[in-house]
Amino acid sequence: MLRIKVINGPNLNLLGTREPQVYGDMTLESIENRLKREAEEYGVEIDFFQSNHEGALIDCIHEAARAGCSGLILNPGAYTHYSYAIRDAIAAVGMPTVEVHLSNVHSREEFRARSVIAPVCMGQISGLGADSYSAALFALVKKLEGVKPAPSHRD
Ligand code: DQA
Repeated sequence: MLRIKVINGPNLNLLGTREPQVYGDMTLESIENRLKREAEEYGVEIDFFQSNHEGALIDCIHEAARAGCSGLILNPGAYTHYSYAIRDAIAAVGMPTVEVHLSNVHSREEFRARSVIAPVCMGQISGLGADSYSAALFALVKKLEGVKPAPSHRD
C-alpha cells in the first residue's frame, strides 16, 4: 500500500486562528482529518507531522524515506522562501514531493513569490486553501498509481 507523509512547517499549528482572512478558518487537525478520509478513499496510507523547527522537519523527511514512504506533501511555511537545508533534504531523499500553500504566494509580498524548495518538487500548489492539500494528494496518488476517481469532498 502506498504511504504518503504530510509535513507542515512553522506556524501552521496555529491554523484556525492565524490570519483567517489569509489562511482560512480550518484548523490543521480538521485539514488532516479531511485528508485522512480522502486517503482512505484512494486506498493509501497517510500520516502527519508538524513542527516549528527546521531540523525537526529535515529529520522527518529523512525518516519518511527510511520508513519507505512513497511521497510527500509539504507545506514548509516561511521556510519555503529561504531554507536551502529543507530543499537539500528533499533532493537527497528523492521522494516525489508536492509543495503546498494555503494562500496564493504569488499574490502577496514579493518575498513569498520565490520558493527555494519548489525546483526540487514535482510541483507547487498554491492559493486553494485547504484544497491545496487535497489537490496535492490527488496529484501524488495519480503519479504513484495511475488515475483514480476523485474523492468526494465533505467539509
Ligand atoms: C504558507 C505561505 C508562506 O509564505 C507563509 O510563511 C506560511 C504559510 C501558506 O500555506 O500559504 O507560513 O506556506
